[in-house]
Amino acid sequence: MRIYRAKDYDELSRKAANIIAAQVIMKPDSVLGLATGSSPVGTYKQLIERCRMGDLDFSQIKSVNLDEYRGLPRENEQSYYYFMRENLFKDINIDMANTNIPDGTEPDSEKECLRYERVIAGLGGIDLQLLGLGHNGHIGFNEPDSSFAKMTHCVDLTPSTIEANKRFFASAEDVPRQAYTMGIGTIMRARKILLIVSGADKAQILHDVLNGPVTPQVPASILQLHSNVTVVADEAALAKC
Ligand code: F6R
Repeated sequence: MRIYRAKDYDELSRKAANIIAAQVIMKPDSVLGLATGSSPVGTYKQLIERCRMGDLDFSQIKSVNLDEYRGLPRENEQSYYYFMRENLFKDINIDMANTNIPDGTEPDSEKECLRYERVIAGLGGIDLQLLGLGHNGHIGFNEPDSSFAKMTHCVDLTPSTIEANKRFFASAEDVPRQAYTMGIGTIMRARKILLIVSGADKAQILHDVLNGPVTPQVPASILQLHSNVTVVADEAALAKC
């Protein structure tokens, strides 16, 4: 595991964008695993800027996102589809037909999760998976549990995740209670993983993820067992490491 220390969020975003840019340059038809949330917004801004400058070409890139709220249609401003379009896709030259996000409106969760696994397998797997870290150690929406989920599945969001995500909704009541998410197994099959973590509020959980026991109670701790993980974190997040 490589750990890069960034001064602050801005430097973290530039370092993370450098790693993704290198992947896109070295393999222009890469399959990128993408994340939503606050952590990658700065990274996406950097990628947009580099694409605008003509230094990055996403025309052959394929993407698969980690997760989507169950029940939210694409047009809903809180859907992850909407987030990805607004924060990245609309400003880079990616072909929207090459972007994949679980379909939150598919009521048959088994069918949708199986379809999504097949999409990922059909693309030949994920070359580089970008991850943020939840305050409870979740990656994707893989919440603390008694075992590691192998495949894309439907999850009940924990109170702590609903609390953390309510900032994007009118109230906590409006946060969907379920989501479709890649499983830990899906994530672990990615050839490379890039975990980005920012802020003092993530210092304790980042310490547990990197130094604690590997346990499904801290889902991201499984990353200790992956052979190609890069962590880019700012000084505040690394304060307890
Ligand atoms: C997002 C996702 C989540 C977030 C995590 C951190 O697609 O799957 O695991 O990465 O909740 O969120 P932020 O970056 O908002 O702190």
